[in-house]
Order: sequence, then C-alpha cells, then structure tokens
Amino acid sequence: MRPLADQVVIVTGASSGIGQASARRLARGGARLVINARRAEPLAALARELDPSGARVRAIPGDITDAAVRQQIVDEARGHFGRIDGLVNNAGYGTRGPVELVPVDLIRRNFETNVFALIALTQLVAPHMRERGTGRIVNIGSIAGRIARPLSSIYDSTKHALEAITDGLRGELAPFGIEVVLIRPGFILSGFLDAANEASGPVIANSGVYAPYFEGFRHDYRRLHRIAGHPDDIARLVEKALTARHPAPRYSAPAHAKLLLFLRWLLPARVFDRAVRLRKR
Ligand SMILES: NC(=O)c1ccc[n+]([C@@H]2O[C@H](COP(=O)([O-])OP(=O)(O)OC[C@H]3O[C@@H](n4cnc5c(N)ncnc54)[C@H](OP(=O)(O)O)[C@@H]3O)[C@@H](O)[C@H]2O)c1
Repeated sequence: MRPLADQVVIVTGASSGIGQASARRLARGGARLVINARRAEPLAALARELDPSGARVRAIPGDITDAAVRQQIVDEARGHFGRIDGLVNNAGYGTRGPVELVPVDLIRRNFETNVFALIALTQLVAPHMRERGTGRIVNIGSIAGRIARPLSSIYDSTKHALEAITDGLRGELAPFGIEVVLIRPGFILSGFLDAANEASGPVIANSGVYAPYFEGFRHDYRRLHRIAGHPDDIARLVEKALTARHPAPRYSAPAHAKLLLFLRWLLPARVFDRAVRLRKR
C-alpha cells in the first residue's frame, strides 16, 4: 500500500465527470492536487470546495493541447508542492460521425487532446519521476480502446492509440520505479455525451445518407443509460492505481465494461460486427 495522504497528484479534465470525481476522492484521501480543465469557473469552484485555503488544491485553467498550459501545470506542482507523485491523464472527449464525412481537422483535434497532449504532458512529468525513482501515471482509456464501433471510430481510434502508448510507457518506465496504469471505463454518466454532441454537431447536422443510422446509434446509446456507471466507479479505480503496492496494468469498470471486453476477446469478428452494426431509426 502506498498511502494517498500528501501525495501530489495532477488531474487533467477535472471540471466534470470522472476527473471531478477523482479529484474529490483523492482530496478526501489527503492528496494534494493540481487540477486542470478549460472551463475556469467550475474548476475554481471545485478547488474552493475541496480546499478553501488554496494551499492543497491548485487550479490551472487552460487547454491541455497548449504547451504553455502543460508547462504551467507541471511548474505549479513542482513549485508549490515540490514534487509530483501521480499524473492522472483524464482530459478527453469523443467525436462522432462516419469516417467518410468527418473533416480531418476535427479528427486531428480529437487526437491532439486525447493522445498528443497526454503524451506531451507525460514527457514533462516522466523525467522528474525518473530522477526521484518513483511515480504513478494513470491513463484514462476506455473500452473503446479495444472495441471500435461504426460512427464512433474516430474517438475509438484515439483510445486504441492510448492502449499502445500506455503499454509501451509501462515497460519503458518500469526500470525507473514508475508504474503506468490504464483504466478502461465502460459507459459512465458524465458530461461526455453533451461534449461529444457539441464536438460532432456540424457532422451530425450534415450526415446525409447516414442520418437514419445516427438516429439508431443515438437510440442504442439512450438504452445504455440503464446500465451506465457513475464517475465515482472510475475514481475508485484511480485511487487504487495510485495506492496499490503493485497496481494491475489495467482496470475496468463497471461490470458491463468487463463483460464487453470479454465478449470482444471471445467472439469471432464477424459475430461481434453483427452485434454493433448500424441500425436505422
Ligand atoms: N463517460 C464515459 O462513458 C467514458 C467512457 C470511457 C472513457 N471515458 C473517458 O473518460 C475521460 C473523462 O470523460 P468524462 O466521461 O468524465 O467526460 P466529461 O464529463 O465530458 O469530462 C471531460 C473532462 O475533460 C476536460 N477536457 C476536455 N477537453 C479538454 C482540453 N482540451 N483541455 C483540458 N481539459 C479538457 C473537460 O473540461 P473542459 O470542457 O472544462 O475543458 C472535462 O473536465 C475522457 O478521457 C473520456 O474519453 C469516458
């Protein structure tokens, strides 16, 4: 067990959902935090809620794809707290749409946030952890990192990339005492759907022949609400990844996530393709 109390942890994407729940849980456990997201107001409100004194929770608002913001996050952790014990790479969103129609700029933007910014922030934090011979990096992936679905494969491909990066980092940083963990959430009720709709609005509005399939996709998603998990289901795993003496390489939750990953492994591709195929509405 590696106690949470006084660990210094960076959490990106903390203005809502999984990042916010993780920040709450880690602060309750005594961790000191640097939290980041673009929306300054909810981020500042969370910092005040967790630590009215401002001494233990520091908010750095800004876009994680901006190199200056990433540097500010790391400088704040090292300058104010003197070290970094944990990095929770959580900021991310999904772009929906048929590959044929999504402008490459939107695809690139999704990779900038979900993959390249995560790699760049990790590159800033890793040397510091390596010098200290200890640290934990927790990447929030998704079951979409193993399961790609029609109309969702732009986002899914960012999470597939994250699987490979995390596996590589785990082996590269292990000799230096740094553990790297991937968490694969299933469907979690958060701001994710609204953010995906906003990011994909122009594509959905002009989806032409795909429009009836989009309706089917949305209908299937609404049905998933019955089995959806809560952000704290994932925050619990974040805490485990930061505190377990020997964390597992990967965790997933809630139960439907484990089941879907198992079925993906078990079923022939043709059968799985049928299960996720497009349906008109
Ligand atoms: N919800 C799910 O079903 C689900 C399933 C699997 C994996 N995940 C993953 O879990 C992570 C958290 O998602 P969530 O479900 O908690 O959704 P969410 O409620 O929309 O939270 C996403 C967070 O990321 C932040 N963010 C997005 N783009 C950013 C940027 N460019 N710079 C800085 N912060 C940024 C958002 O804050 P601002 O808008 O204020 O910047 C927000 O705080 C994501 O990586 C997502 O892919 C979610």
